[in-house]
Amino acid sequence: MRKTKITIDKAYRVAPVDKRIFGSFIEHLGRAVYGGIYEPGHPAADKDGFRQDVLELVRKLRVPVVRYPGGNFVSNFFWEDSVGPLKERQPRLDLAWRTLEPNTFGLGEFAKWAKKADTEIMMAVNLGTRGVADACNLLEYCNHPSGTKYSELRRSHGVEEPYHIKLWCLGNEMDGDWQLGSKTMEEYGRISAETGKAMKLIDPSIELVSCGSSFKDMPTFPQWEAVTLGENYEYVDYLSLHQYYGNEKNDTVDYLAQSDDMEEFIHTVLSVCDYVKAKKRSKKTMHLSFDEWNVWFHSKAEEEDITKNSPWQKAPHLLEDHYTFEDALMVGLMLITLLNHADRIKIACLAQLVNVIAPIMTEEGGAWCQTIYYPFLHASLYGRGTVIKAVTDTKTHATSGHGAVSDVVCAAVYEEEKEELTVFAVNRNLSEDQELTMDVRSFGELKGMEKLVLVSDDLKAENSLAEEKVKPVRDKELPMDGGVLRTVLKKASWNVIRLGRR
Ligand code: AHR
Repeated sequence: MRKTKITIDKAYRVAPVDKRIFGSFIEHLGRAVYGGIYEPGHPAADKDGFRQDVLELVRKLRVPVVRYPGGNFVSNFFWEDSVGPLKERQPRLDLAWRTLEPNTFGLGEFAKWAKKADTEIMMAVNLGTRGVADACNLLEYCNHPSGTKYSELRRSHGVEEPYHIKLWCLGNEMDGDWQLGSKTMEEYGRISAETGKAMKLIDPSIELVSCGSSFKDMPTFPQWEAVTLGENYEYVDYLSLHQYYGNEKNDTVDYLAQSDDMEEFIHTVLSVCDYVKAKKRSKKTMHLSFDEWNVWFHSKAEEEDITKNSPWQKAPHLLEDHYTFEDALMVGLMLITLLNHADRIKIACLAQLVNVIAPIMTEEGGAWCQTIYYPFLHASLYGRGTVIKAVTDTKTHATSGHGAVSDVVCAAVYEEEKEELTVFAVNRNLSEDQELTMDVRSFGELKGMEKLVLVSDDLKAENSLAEEKVKPVRDKELPMDGGVLRTVLKKASWNVIRLGRR
């Protein structure tokens, strides 16, 4: 058996975790809204048409913020069509996903749903086919108390109190040629600066996210970040990152090494942010919003076919990746990477939440949890506190595309009030278990509370409504001796080790 040693010293604090890194995303795409969170007439739907079975699984995840309404969808979204009396709303063509948008669910419905899900809204404005004025109108509708055209419009829709939406995305993936109204970096730099300036005049308490590159391999990355921040630095609070990974080559060893790419991506983006800060002689440090991240590859071929060859239809099955056990490991690795950057990443959104590349799926017969639900659940429940540097001494293994990578990857979070330390660890060595020695002496006397493990003999195992093949197992035996824990990290496993005073 291989050996791994992790040393965690209380003195080496990285940063407090901003709970918003456990955010998610609902786009008007496929069955995320219609047939996902909203399905009037379904036996599990409440009086507002929200599926209770879905709400229950969402609440369990304790998602603090949900990005809405897109995604690519937002770049040709006419928000006025989605508010007001239902009988006056008209269907529209959604050009992003070649779908019929009935507009029976809009901003007001989403705000109601968010309240029931106990989450905040992260709203995106359309900077594709619209611009400064429209973003201002929407913000006035949402956040201004009363006495103006759009605040009174909201009140006439029965919503007395403003929504007080704090977090706003200045468009979505504006560098991508697939985006309606995509922009050059100079164009986006200008429009985002002007929109940000105007929006903060309406409500100075809001926070704004500037669009970074759509993914790391965009030809304009990282020049896009440098030029756009060069224009809008003063008005924005976060820069966005988006990245999806997948096992297209069916090479799991190399697939699980892709979290190292994510690490490098974050480093590069931070370097650009700090370069712009220095160039501007600014006192402000730019933080990051990793507002789209996940595994996405299983459904790519089908999706291309539907968006090209199908007639206009409402809520088609789109991007319905069925996740495997190895995908859950990859999601775990990505969560660890996000946590270890708690000093600069303040927001992150698992894209997405229901039915569309999602941890939660619905069928007529009920809602169920995909494999990736579990690492996200664990991180959201036990990853709140302060990240402490976990010094990891582990062996490496060879990969086809990433050279030699470390066997064990981990993050440690200390919740001071409860005096609980949680270590999230993935053993991404597929053939060797690890004998783990964890030295936590600096925390005083800690006891092993529990160890949650996700492990399977079948890397391709999937869950379904009928059968949950991949779910965590609990182990209470965590022997500690003089502040040192000894346990085993199984080959190919996600581990949550919880220590405390109890
Ligand atoms: O999350 C699915 C899509 O991925 C989003 O609409 C878009 O922003 C990204 O390309």
